[in-house]
Amino acid sequence: MVRYHINDGVAVIALDNPPVNALGISLRLQLFEEFGHALNNPEVVAIVITGAGRGFSGGGDINEFDTPALAQAPTLMTVFNQIERSHKPVVAAVHGNALGGGLELALACHARVCHTKTLVGLPEVHLGLVPGAGGTQRLPRLVGAELALNLVVQGKIVPASSLAESGLFDHLTEGSPVEDAIALAHQLSKDVRDGQPLKRTGERSVSLPNAQAFFAFARATVQVQTRGATAPQACVDCLEYSVTLPFQQALEKEFSTFWRLQGTHEFNALRHAFLAEKKCLEIENIDSAALPKEINDVVVVGAGTMGSGIAMSLANAGLQVTLVEREQSALDRGLTSISSTYESSLKKGRLSVDQIAKRKSLIKGSTNFDAVASADAVIEAVFEDINVKREVFNAVGKFARPGTLLATNTSMLDVDEIAQSCSEIENFLGLHFFSPAHVMKLLEIVKGEKTSSQSLATAMSLARRLGKTAVVSGVCEGFIGNRMLQPYLMQAGLLLDEGALPHQVDAAIEKWGFAMGPFRVSDMAGNDLGAKIRHDRLGKNPNLVYSRTFDAIVEMGRVGQKCGRGWYDYVPGQRAPQVSQEVTDAVLAESQRLGLQRRKISDEEIVDRLLLALVNEGAKILEEGIAQRASDIDVVYLAGYGFPRWRGGPMFSADQRGLKDVVATMQRFARAPIYQNAQVFWRPANLLVSLADKNLTFSAFQKSELS
Ligand code: 3HC
Ligand code: NAI
Repeated sequence: MVRYHINDGVAVIALDNPPVNALGISLRLQLFEEFGHALNNPEVVAIVITGAGRGFSGGGDINEFDTPALAQAPTLMTVFNQIERSHKPVVAAVHGNALGGGLELALACHARVCHTKTLVGLPEVHLGLVPGAGGTQRLPRLVGAELALNLVVQGKIVPASSLAESGLFDHLTEGSPVEDAIALAHQLSKDVRDGQPLKRTGERSVSLPNAQAFFAFARATVQVQTRGATAPQACVDCLEYSVTLPFQQALEKEFSTFWRLQGTHEFNALRHAFLAEKKCLEIENIDSAALPKEINDVVVVGAGTMGSGIAMSLANAGLQVTLVEREQSALDRGLTSISSTYESSLKKGRLSVDQIAKRKSLIKGSTNFDAVASADAVIEAVFEDINVKREVFNAVGKFARPGTLLATNTSMLDVDEIAQSCSEIENFLGLHFFSPAHVMKLLEIVKGEKTSSQSLATAMSLARRLGKTAVVSGVCEGFIGNRMLQPYLMQAGLLLDEGALPHQVDAAIEKWGFAMGPFRVSDMAGNDLGAKIRHDRLGKNPNLVYSRTFDAIVEMGRVGQKCGRGWYDYVPGQRAPQVSQEVTDAVLAESQRLGLQRRKISDEEIVDRLLLALVNEGAKILEEGIAQRASDIDVVYLAGYGFPRWRGGPMFSADQRGLKDVVATMQRFARAPIYQNAQVFWRPANLLVSLADKNLTFSAFQKSELS
């Protein structure tokens, strides 16, 4: 786990714990021991600490938190104190990444040499933690309290080159950090011999005039920005200790804060989210010999909202794109919309003129399918109509080379039915992007009945290249995300009929942590789009219960933000929704039409009904094998639907609550005398009942257990 050799009087200690040199107990023990050897060896005049492999260190071992191993001696604090107090100079040689405990290790050294491209940061806050091994104390001592606060509270990961002027590094290099670190170690050793003291980070002080006002302002800002999460405030507290308390005492306070937080639901949820996003890359039952094909050249058919966004997403990742439309005018509209999106990124300072020119040069337009002949992949984003889509794939088939990846971006249609229009059905799958496709992280990879392992592997590798969070879904109406959204929306509507108003529903679920409530989301997506989906579903199953107010709103022309009127009114140029009396009247009229006595509905009931509607559908999706695992469902909701990350996702939050309680609450809703079809709606999924009976969780469930 740790390699040790002596290079011309300098002990070089390399962390060697693949894949990311996580600082678990075995590594800590060896590092402590080898460091001791270096200190005691009279031949060694200085020490360099580096990382073997791709990076310096990804930090504390996430799997070790909330287990006894975390507190097992030597702790990180002990190891880092030993390093800092060393009488021999210690230089960190950093490359690849130095994150969390990895950066804290470097901060404890007497000097840091770093490759310019190294990614550095203290991202603990994204795990619901504060840095727990000196990060909040040593970083402000090197870079100042303000920069440290920004980095720690936001958990930013940045290239070392962007911190060139910050004082964090003694030397940035494009060459070998180890070689430069050895040279610096010799220099420091000479300095010590010449009587100069070592620069110990902990011995510096943090100067911050008006500290009290600074931290008060930071607290107020964080409060507004973090939607109820507790770790960001704790980060501010710890940074304040760096100014108000002596170093050792502040270190202990930081550690006790870290210790307290790693026992919280918030930490468990955020760790779950982190691990779930790694796990969803694993495709079950895939032929391990199937290697992804390289995709460089893509045809996107349809230059509407989605096609244009997909084209930008591809070009932003450096792929060559041809947008294909039926008519020049539609193509021009698509290309103009792409240009204006890029222009607005320029105005906001997010992209430079050169970057935009490069990206635009990668996107060409055409009104025929010739470009398909040289494409590695074709992504279809035409109207949501099975016949139009099948015609497109018929045409594509006449030009495509054997082995071209063929994908549909349908949101609700049957992928297997569309696939029938392709001769190489094994190359066909769904790539369900979310709007706006160049921004939204989520991508559902929809595995058709005949989709080959290689096509899946190729789609996953493409997704990674685009920087998407991809989840594999089986074929069903709406796949994972939109399928679950339907019962959620049904409940939102029924809550209106029974006594709530749209802004109350939205406010309750937003207070719970959702980025946006169901009615604000509907206004953004377009209430007319939702109407089409509802009508299709009701056509297939007339027993579904949707509040009629959904249709009333559309009939009133309230199709959403795009026309300034939806569930809310919108003032031109402003995004903030205004409560609409007209909508309130429509809601009240519907309750009256149904003969329902409106009642006061608590926020708790609103949240429970919305969430459990998601959970029950998620359980069915898991049971049917549409999702590979419960954590994939969580990833879909975290990456695509504004579910609060610090609650881990719908399935995780149900596990935390206890599935027995979930079932009991659903049964209570089913018994309520109020509403049509409540018993049918709230019938718990078989899987949910069976897991609850056995005191098990969704996350422990494996599909094989079904049989
Ligand atoms: N502990 C344990 N395992 C870790 C880990 C960590 N800190 N960081 C990554 N891993 C694991 C991943 O889960 C993954 O496991 P898998 O192969 O079983 O799926 C494997 O290492 C490889 O990870 P990636 O696929 O993410 O590899 P990349 O090369 O794409 O990225 C990385 C590497 C940038 C280091 C990225 O993994 C990352 O961001 N890791 C988390 C960094 C982090 O949050 N560090 C803070 C930890 S908390 C801490 O240090 C507390 C301290 O203050 C006391
Ligand atoms: P849109 O109406 O904005 O764009 C469709 C485009 O396809 C139009 O420009 C049209 O001219 C073009 N087109 C139609 N027939 C064509 C043909 N034969 N050849 C070439 N071009 C043709 O629709 P939007 O919103 O972009 O949706 C496209 C697809 O993406 C649909 O299947 C939709 O369900 C799906 N989708 C939409 C999302 C959204 O939020 N809008 C989200 C995820 C998926």
